[in-house]
This record gives sequence, structure tokens and C-alpha cells, in this order.
Amino acid sequence: MGLRLVSPASEPLIDLRPRALTCRPRRRPARSACIALGLASVGLGLLPWMIYLATSLPASSTAYHWAAAWVGLDAMEAAGLIGTGVLVYRRDPRYCLVSTATAALLLVDAWFDVTTAPPGSGALASLLMAAFAEVPAAALCIGLALSALRQAGARVQPAAAAGTSHDGAGRLCAVRVLLIGSGGREHALARGLARDSAVTDLHAAPGNPGIGAIAHLHDVAVTDPAAVTALATRLAADLVVVGPEAPLVAGVADALRAARIDCFGPDQGAAAIEGSKSFAKHVMIAAGVPTADAVTCHSEAEAAAALAEFGPPYVVKADGLAGGKGVVVTSDRGEALRHAQDCGTVVIEEFLDGPEVSVFALADGMTAAAMLPAQDFKRAHDGDTGPNTGGMGAYAPLPWAPPGLADQTLDTVVLPVLEHLRKLGHPYSGLLYAGLALTSRGPRVVEFNARFGDPEAQVILDRLGTPLGGLLAACAQGDLGSAPALDWLPGAAVTVVVAAEGYPASPVHGDRIDGIDTAGHVPGSYVLQAGTTTDGAGHLITSGGRVLNVVGSGPDLAAARASAYQAASLIRLRGGWYRSDIADQARMPAARP
Ligand SMILES: Nc1ncnc2c1ncn2[C@@H]1O[C@H](COP(=O)(O)OP(=O)(O)O)[C@@H](O)[C@H]1O
Ligand SMILES: [Mg+2]
Repeated sequence: MGLRLVSPASEPLIDLRPRALTCRPRRRPARSACIALGLASVGLGLLPWMIYLATSLPASSTAYHWAAAWVGLDAMEAAGLIGTGVLVYRRDPRYCLVSTATAALLLVDAWFDVTTAPPGSGALASLLMAAFAEVPAAALCIGLALSALRQAGARVQPAAAAGTSHDGAGRLCAVRVLLIGSGGREHALARGLARDSAVTDLHAAPGNPGIGAIAHLHDVAVTDPAAVTALATRLAADLVVVGPEAPLVAGVADALRAARIDCFGPDQGAAAIEGSKSFAKHVMIAAGVPTADAVTCHSEAEAAAALAEFGPPYVVKADGLAGGKGVVVTSDRGEALRHAQDCGTVVIEEFLDGPEVSVFALADGMTAAAMLPAQDFKRAHDGDTGPNTGGMGAYAPLPWAPPGLADQTLDTVVLPVLEHLRKLGHPYSGLLYAGLALTSRGPRVVEFNARFGDPEAQVILDRLGTPLGGLLAACAQGDLGSAPALDWLPGAAVTVVVAAEGYPASPVHGDRIDGIDTAGHVPGSYVLQAGTTTDGAGHLITSGGRVLNVVGSGPDLAAARASAYQAASLIRLRGGWYRSDIADQARMPAARP
């Protein structure tokens, strides 16, 4: 009765090969376009005026002298206005400099016109020219420059200062990004986006105080497709990056794409690969992906029969999203049956032995690129004891994993799944997370997620050298094939989750958090925020179970781990706690060939 696996789809998929990243915002904000058009028109309007000046003034040496000065000034103003317009339209931040210079020219010209005009009607014409053309145009240019400076001030100083090395492959483009979500994963995504110079304007909804330090925050109901689309439209976002699964399963990506807004994240139909365990199982079988044999059960009788078939240890999975609480792995048949009864539709499957690994792939519907494998720690306490949690830490890379695991997963898991979803009419665009068990019979898929894992994303994004915004934009635009190859920084990263008192059963909210700045000064470390908010007095307080992710990086895992733990020890949070064995090499599985 176990599910049989069919052979993998035979049609090869397009491989990813490095090429220059083209980052093409498809939509232009109406406001920028209007300003750009206005500036360019005024600039062009100066040209006939220049020709008039050049041809109509008397050819005395003095007049010639003045005509040349006027024409020269007007020509520079025209060029400045047109240039500012073009840069505004492209949202190239250099418009700040050009518009400042143009404003200076316009003001000099206005002064020049008024002070040198001949008496009589000429003086009136000069006054009118200054009052209605030069001074307003200068005011517009100054306003643009000030707004650019304000935006620059709101952007991340530390990230910008740290500077990510970019390959400079002609990728100067300006992208306004809206990031959806509020946890540590989203803070890591925000950090990566803020470090990409192509991302000129970063917004997040709802975000958290840590994300608020590097992005403009907005309040939105993240699972309301219409509300997210309205916000993205209002912001004129070029790209929306959806962090968590719930908005994807609710159809947020569908609504954004319907409004012609690029979205990093799969549509509702494709996100069902996470939203429904039975759908994921069907896709895996149809695509020939190695996974545990399983059956979907709708009644107690079916569940009892399936448990008898598979035997202990029993694995019972609620079909829908369950916030990490839907899976029971137990040798107690009664407990397994009770969980099946509580959940309604369940998937009951064969037990898989072996260590678990997370392999993420960036996908654009047709093609995919596998990222660095990582491992997370699900159980609350040291030695993998205690209740299941959202994840208490992670590290990457995995020194013990089989070489070529990422490529193997790409070929045997990710690409066949993408192809099958495409055939079903749901091309998968976004992040496909394959949770693998490295069993004695080879890797088997435990589950898929439709988004970055949390906290694995925190370490993987720490190691990613390729600018993040361009990669996510390329996925959203179905253009990953022209993105640069993923570039991984040498060394390793470790993240340690600092949890609130009472997590995971009943985390205490409202406790004050101190020491983040001090922790961030430990070499190689920084602190991402997850379950945080601010109180009335502006102090950082807890608002969730997993409060902070302390990230450490270094030349190897030992150094990264030392850095993360040193920083974590500097966090002051009443009742706060963390596991002490994240990335402990002594506890790692034996290396596999
Ligand atoms: N077939 C299986 N055999 C052994 N352990 C499993 C199996 N399926 C799931 N698990 C364990 O249960 C955890 C949660 O299951 P998963 O399918 O990842 O669901 P979710 O993350 O949605 O709760 C896995 O990380 C793994 O430790
Ligand atoms: Mg899981």
C-alpha cells in the first residue's frame, strides 16, 4: 500500500550558468515619471530660447559676449534638467547631485537676468522669466535633492559602511523593494537587500524594530492579498519579497502578479507544496522524487490501517499549515492515533532515519539554483531534547555532508518538482526549501517549504556573496538564467536563537531587551531581531518566543560559533535562554562520502 515512486521526468530543464545580471524594474512610479517628464520638457523648452538668444541679439562685441554667457548658461540648465529627469526616471540616486548643480545654475541665471536686464520692457521680461521659470525650476531641483538626502539618511548606515562586494557587471539599477514579514528571517532578508546597492529604497510590512533601522515600516495584514497589493501599489514597489508562508498560501503572490507587480514567492497553487502535505506527496510521486512512502488518511479507520502497515516509530502529519505543531513522531500508537483524530486529514508515512539537512533553491518557474546546505536545531534543549520549536539555531556550511549534495538535490528533487508544477499550471517562482533526511538508502525528502527556512536563512544569507536584491528580482522576473552564479563567502556562519522565558509553550511578552549594541561589537557577529517590539518609552521588549538571532561568522565553524556565543552572552533579557550546543562539532554526524 506504500506509495510507489515513478521515474523522474525525463525532459531536461535549463541549467543555470553565470551571465550578467539584468535587473529590470518593469513598472515606473507615476510620480517619478511625471517629475521626470516635467523636467525634461522644461529642459527641452530652453532650447528654442537659446536659439533665439543666439540669433536675435545685435552682434556688437558686448552683446556677443552676453549672448554667449546666456546661451552657455541656458544650455547647461537644459542639460541639467534633462539629465535630472532621466536619472529620476531611472531612479538613479545620482540625480541628487545633478539636480543640486542645476538648481545652482538656475539661481545664478535668475540673478544674472534680473541684474543685467536693460531698463523698460526687457526688465519686466527678465523678472517674469526669473519668477515663473528659473526660480520654480530651481525650487523643484532643490526639493528633489533634499528628498534624495532624506531617503539616503533613512537607509542603513552600518550595512552600507560594511559594503558587500559586487561584481559590477553593469548592474546599476534602482529597485524599490517591499519585504513582507516580521521575524528573524525577514531581518536577515532585509539586511541582505539593504547591502545590495541596486536596492535603492527598502520598505517592510509589518517588520520589527530591527528591520525598522534599515527599512521604512508599514502596517499591513500580511495574509490579506488585497491589502498587500494596495500597499505595494501605493509604494510603487518594483519587487515584493514575501518572507513567511502564510501570505503565500493565502494568495498574496497571485494578487501581486495580477496587479503586474513582481513578486518573489510562489503563487497559491505552487505554495500548496508547503500548505498541503498530501499535495506535496503527490507532486513528489509524480515527479519521481525520493521520499518516505506515505498514505493520506481521511478517517480513523484509514489512519489505524496505515499505522499498522508502517509500524513504529509512527509519523503522523496534519495535512495543512500547522505552525510547526502538525507533525507527531512517536512510538506510542495511541498518541499517533489521537493526533490523526485531532487533525482530520493526515499523511501517515514511513519513518526516515539519518540526519536532516535543509537545501534551499532559488527558482524562477523554469530554472533553479541550489544554495548552501544548512542544518537547524528543532528541539528546545541541548542534546536535541525537549519540545519541538521553530528552530533554536543553525549553521552552514556542513563539513560532514556528502560533497555535491546541493547539486544532487537540484537534479533529483528541485528540477523535477519545478517541471511537474509547471505542468500543473503553477510555475514555481521563489524559494523552494527541501528538507532532507540523509538516510542509509540516500537522501529522502521529508518536506517542502515555500520560503526560506528560519533560522537557516540567517546563516545562508550571511554567507551569500552575490547581491541579494538582483537575485530575488531575477527569480520574480523569470530571468534567473541571466543572473550571476551564486557566490559563497569562504568560512562559516552560526546563529543562536535567544528565546523568551516560557518558550515554546507560553513565551512571556513585554520583557526588556538590552545589550544588542554591545553584542554587535563582538568581531564577526551581529544581532537580528525576531520577536521584538518597543514599549511606550521606546525600549526594546519581547513580543514573541524566539526573540533574537545572534549571528557569528568566521574562517571556520569553531570561530563562527565562538563569535555567536560570545555575542549571545552579552544579551540581557530576564528569563532569556538559548541552546549551548548549536554547531558543536563534537555533536555533528559523521562525515559522509
Ligand atoms: N518520515 C519521517 N521520519 C522521521 N522523522 C520525520 C519524518 N517526517 C517528519 N519528521 C520529523 O518531524 C519534523 C517535522 O516534520 P515536517 O514534515 O518537517 O513538518 P513541519 O516542519 O511542517 O512541522 C521533521 O523535521 C523531522 O524531524
Ligand atoms: Mg519542517
